[in-house]
Amino acid sequence: MRIVAITNQKGGVGKTTTAINLAACLAQRGIRVLLIDLDPQANATSGLGMAQEDGGSLYPALVLGTDPHAAIRPTRLPNLSIIRSHQELAGCEIELAQSGNHLARLREVLHPLRSSGHFDYILLDCPPSLGVLMTSALAAADELLVPLQCEYFGLEGLSKIVHVVQQIRECGANPDLRLEGIVMTMYDSRANLSQQVVGDVRNYFAEIIYNSIIPRSVRLGEAPSFGKSIIEYEPNGRGATAYRALAAEFLARRVENKG
Ligand SMILES: Nc1ncnc2c1ncn2[C@@H]1O[C@H](COP(=O)(O)OP(=O)(O)O)[C@@H](O)[C@H]1O
Ligand SMILES: [Mg+2]
Repeated sequence: MRIVAITNQKGGVGKTTTAINLAACLAQRGIRVLLIDLDPQANATSGLGMAQEDGGSLYPALVLGTDPHAAIRPTRLPNLSIIRSHQELAGCEIELAQSGNHLARLREVLHPLRSSGHFDYILLDCPPSLGVLMTSALAAADELLVPLQCEYFGLEGLSKIVHVVQQIRECGANPDLRLEGIVMTMYDSRANLSQQVVGDVRNYFAEIIYNSIIPRSVRLGEAPSFGKSIIEYEPNGRGATAYRALAAEFLARRVENKG
C-alpha cells in the first residue's frame, strides 16, 4: 500500500483533475484506490458527483480522533472509494496548528487505513498553498506526484516544491518522502511555450517526468461539472486516453522499482 500526495502549491494546475482521473483509471484496471479530498474547496468530491456532508470529511478523524474508516464512501466506479471533503476541513488549518505535533497527525490518522489491507493506493488531493493540510500530506505520504502546468511560471513553483520536500525530509517529519513524478498538464501542442516548458522539465528532471502528457482539453474541463471522471464523460477522447496512459505508466514504474 502506498500513499501518494498530489501536490503543487499553485492552484489551477490540474491537481484535482489528475487526482480524479488517475484514481478512476487505476480503479478501472482493478487497482483498489481510496481518493482522499483534502482540499476544503471539495472539488474532487463534487467532481465525482458526490455531495458534501457535515462531518463527512476527514475532519472528525483529524480533530476528534474518530475512526477514519467511517468516512469512506464508495463511488459509482468499482474499486474507487473516496473520503469526501467539506468546508469544515478549513478548520483543521487552525486546530491542527494549535495542537502540538501537527505535522504527524494526518500520518497517524491514515495509519489504520494503511494497515487495513483494503486499498492498494491512497491518493491525496491536496489544497493549494503551503498550509497545514498540505504539509501534513507531505509528512503522511510515501510519494509525491506533482502536476505541472505547461506554462512559464510552472517551473518556478517546482523549485519551491523540491525545497519543501527537502525540508520535510530533513526535519524528520518524513525522511523517506520521495518526489516520485511530475506530470505535465494542459499541454497545448500549438503553443511553442508548452513544448519549451516540457523540454526544460525534461532537462532538469529527466528521471521523474512522466512521458504521458495531459493535453488541454475542453472535455477534461467540463467533466467535473457533470460529476464525472473523464473515463465516464468521454471514454474515447484525448483526455481519457492521456490519463489511461498515465495510469499505465504509474503502475509500470512501480513494477520496475521493485525489480
Ligand atoms: N487538461 C486540462 N484541460 C482543460 N482544462 C483543464 C485541464 N485540467 C484541468 N482543467 C481545468 O482547469 C481548472 C483547474 O484544474 P484543477 O484540476 O481543479 O486544478 P487544481 O486542483 O490544481 O486547482 C479546472 O476548471 C479544471 O476543470
Ligand atoms: Mg484542486
